[in-house]
Amino acid sequence: TNLVLLGPPGAGKGTQARRLEERFGLVQLSTGDLLRAAVAQGTEAGLAAKAVMERGDLVSDEIVIAILRDRMARDDCRAGVIFDGFPRTAAQAEALDALLAEAGGAITAAISLEVDDAAMVERVSGRFTCASCGEGYHDRFKRPAAEDICDNCGSSDFRRRPDDNAETVAQRLRAYHAQTAPLIAHYDAKGVLTGVDAMAPIDAVSESLTAIVDPAT
Ligand code: AP5
Ligand code: ZN
Repeated sequence: TNLVLLGPPGAGKGTQARRLEERFGLVQLSTGDLLRAAVAQGTEAGLAAKAVMERGDLVSDEIVIAILRDRMARDDCRAGVIFDGFPRTAAQAEALDALLAEAGGAITAAISLEVDDAAMVERVSGRFTCASCGEGYHDRFKRPAAEDICDNCGSSDFRRRPDDNAETVAQRLRAYHAQTAPLIAHYDAKGVLTGVDAMAPIDAVSESLTAIVDPAT
């Protein structure tokens, strides 16, 4: 099983990928996470990517494809991969098809998470996470019960992504529509595309995805 999750910022790609990973023993591969790790480590790719990500633009295909290829060379990926936030351009989609074909594989399903743009700006600007346990919060929708203390683990170490401000989110949405949304047609032409209403509650979206990955459940 190799899944592609397509959708604009805030559609729930990461949230759903983590759930599918647990349920089906697949590996979540998020190019956003890999790039943020490269930025944190100060690698050459990370240095080049930092300013681009803070603007809300797409990092170059060259950097992203190289990072992805390295990650896919690791053994755990043989179990099957959930591609979260990759591919985002036509060149990336072609590179992915070629990489999988080399290993005798292919994309089993591409899922387009369909959402409303205005709601996405609101969902993403305002979110923050607990650095100790990873619990997610939101300024308006989900504040910690006690101000500045994580409900889950008691830590006060909260983090915000530098690209989760209204201005950058708007640019991320523009990049999605200009460069990534056309991939919906790419996967539709291959006969592997399914659209899912991702405005529904998180559990309902998970059920739809589970039914696509394993129609027997
Ligand atoms: P990336 O890290 O991929 O960010 P993104 O695509 O903007 O996606 P997000 O992580 O913001 O959202 P998500 O869809 O995962 O939603 P989540 O589950 O977190 O990319 C960041 C940057 O890296 C890019 O801008 C680019 O510069 C660069 N980059 C990455 N990959 C690249 C590539 N392939 N090529 C070039 N550049 C690349 O959910 C969001 C929030 O909503 C959470 O708070 C969650 O709890 C909540 N939520 C989720 N689902 C629901 C629901 N159904 N109802 C209510 N709330 C929900
Ligand atoms: Zn916590």
